[in-house]
Amino acid sequence: MHSNEPLDVATSAVPALDPHVIVLFGATGDLARRKLLPGLMHLTRAGLMPDMRVIGTSFDDFDDDQFRAFARASWDEFGRQPVPEDEWDRFAARLVYINAREGAPGLSQLARDVVEQMGVPVRFLHYLSVPPAAATTVVTTLRDAALVDRARIIMEKPFGVDLATARVLNAAVNEVFPDERVFRIDHFLGKEAAQNILALRFANGLFEPIWNRQHIDHIQIDVPETLSVEGRAGFYEGTGAYRDMVVTHLLQVLAFTAMEPPTALEPAAIGEEKDKVFRSLQPIQPRDVVRGQYDGYLRHEGVDRNSQTETFIALRCEIDNWRWSGVPFFLRTGKNMAEGARIISIAFKEPPRSMFPVGSGVGQFGPDHLTFDLADATRMSLSFYGKRPGTGMRLVKQSLQFSLHEVEEHVDDVLEAYERLIYDAMMGDHTLFASSKGIEKLWEISQQLLDHPPEVYPYPAGSWGPRTPMNELIAPRTWRLPFERKWRGPK
Ligand code: BG6
Repeated sequence: MHSNEPLDVATSAVPALDPHVIVLFGATGDLARRKLLPGLMHLTRAGLMPDMRVIGTSFDDFDDDQFRAFARASWDEFGRQPVPEDEWDRFAARLVYINAREGAPGLSQLARDVVEQMGVPVRFLHYLSVPPAAATTVVTTLRDAALVDRARIIMEKPFGVDLATARVLNAAVNEVFPDERVFRIDHFLGKEAAQNILALRFANGLFEPIWNRQHIDHIQIDVPETLSVEGRAGFYEGTGAYRDMVVTHLLQVLAFTAMEPPTALEPAAIGEEKDKVFRSLQPIQPRDVVRGQYDGYLRHEGVDRNSQTETFIALRCEIDNWRWSGVPFFLRTGKNMAEGARIISIAFKEPPRSMFPVGSGVGQFGPDHLTFDLADATRMSLSFYGKRPGTGMRLVKQSLQFSLHEVEEHVDDVLEAYERLIYDAMMGDHTLFASSKGIEKLWEISQQLLDHPPEVYPYPAGSWGPRTPMNELIAPRTWRLPFERKWRGPK
């Protein structure tokens, strides 16, 4: 579906954005290279970017041209379409670079020059793609550079490593930027499919009546990854799967799945409902958690030889409210696993089966499921029992599947998660961002686990994790992955 034409994502419904100066801290880092710089170009091609300039900054000794070459290389590697040279040149002309060693005075001067050149009133969007320890320094630099007025900031996780550090970080940031101008990014919420959970739940009469403990047996949020932590072991060693994935992405997705209908589809109302889910979450009990570490992890550079950092985690948690009481949520994620997937799977309660003859196969293949695939283009499936054609009553599991790829006219409209979120931050829309209150609450319910982490089981690289403890955790239910059937249609 790739073409040379700019995408026609922009529609007349898109409100005009103020001109922006985007200050990208960590501009030569991995996230900038893979996602942010290509994302800015893609938004531009899609007609969603206002008049803008990008000030890249980091500790690399680059000049403007080297930064532009870096951006070009990142587009060539990670951009999603070929781009005509003249179009690239127009984009590249909007990029400038300053070494972070120049500090607040240098940044302030460059920002003034850029704004003067643009010749219009601008807003600033400061993107902090920096390690957590550097976040407060950057905020101080922004204050000293007088880049706070008409400015918003996007922050990357981890937002602290526990409740105490999260509070300190939030307080330091809020001293300079009020919370309504802070956008804490969780890119899982920017994925089309995550938002589609809201559409599916609240725009249809079909699912909401059964979205509760009367009809749902349990829910799985499962994000195995085939990636190892090679190349980022130094970061990962001090983080582990719980902090890297669960307390951020998986629990944010859980909130979308479990929240009550908001009073309006707008940021404050949605944020409030998400936070209510976090407030109802029961503290995570160490006995409900299985931690694992893939064989070979200890050999990575930067890893302690006796490291107890988990590269795999599976856990059970519960939401103590009227909708969900008694419905377990099983979360699982890990590195170096057999397959990469990101699914939410809702398992429905089984009906009485008394009328079906012995041997008919009813219930034999697990409960009915509604499954969301959080891949960049939405996929969903509903699996249920149906009759196998022929004599007698033999039941088989069948599925209805939907893939956004089947809806040709929408395929090119898909924005990458980061693109969507950068756009929303420029709009000042908090809907898909994590709140400081929510984050603090999640650290609070994590404290027992952080204080008393259970033992770490080894698992073979390329497997599904430490099999016995992980299966015992979910028994008598079973993990939905690996799927018994492949998704149909294009990948
Ligand atoms: C990041 C984690 O936030 O999300 C990584 O730090 C993880 O460890 C990544 O691999 C997964 O995101 P995605 O969008 O590639 O599934």
